[in-house]
Amino acid sequence: MNIIVAADANWAIGNKGELLVSIPADHRMFRQETIEKVIVYGRKTLETFPMKHVLDGRENIILSTRADYAVSGAKIAHSIDELMKMLEKYDSDEVYVIGGAKVYSEMLPYVDVCHVTKIDQEFEADAFFPNLDRDPEWEITARSEEMSYFDTTYHFVKYERKIKTDASV
Ligand SMILES: NC(=O)c1ccc[n+]([C@@H]2O[C@H](COP(=O)([O-])OP(=O)(O)OC[C@H]3O[C@@H](n4cnc5c(N)ncnc54)[C@H](OP(=O)(O)O)[C@@H]3O)[C@@H](O)[C@H]2O)c1
Repeated sequence: MNIIVAADANWAIGNKGELLVSIPADHRMFRQETIEKVIVYGRKTLETFPMKHVLDGRENIILSTRADYAVSGAKIAHSIDELMKMLEKYDSDEVYVIGGAKVYSEMLPYVDVCHVTKIDQEFEADAFFPNLDRDPEWEITARSEEMSYFDTTYHFVKYERKIKTDASV
């Protein structure tokens, strides 16, 4: 299973329910990486999308504890257990966890690959991703050349779990 995330120099990923910065090339990479795949995300992340619409061309699975929650074009999982059962029928390489902070932290133990857009800046933030640079279980296996968008510089960095865990599917 994969995670895809954009994080700043402090591993911040959001502030007041919004992304920290919008980088067009990052959005294109996100679409290329996730198109025709299964994407898993939290109810609060859906609410950051334009018109609160699911992302087209992908199988959308949204986590919410609300029993009566329904979203056109998405399946709802009400717990991690229920989610994992729903994911059994998919190839785990085709599954991408796309946020936000709560869902990333809950799903990280099941994930073997993190596609991180690492932004070389510090933003005011209230949502964070675990610091993979300080976690000995993870290593960088690929890193793009430096990219820039106006004053913002960033890299696409691939982190992989050194030893695949039994929990990974
Ligand atoms: N930088 C990035 O790449 C990136 C990507 C995505 C999001 N973000 C940012 O992340 C922030 C949002 O993160 P967040 O942590 O507040 O919200 P979130 O993870 O998107 O959603 C949390 C919600 O998901 C549901 N949920 C989570 N775990 C669950 C479980 N085990 N069982 C059932 N439902 C579960 C709950 O919904 P209910 O309350 O309905 O029960 C919970 O309130 C925003 O600032 C957003 O912009 C950043």
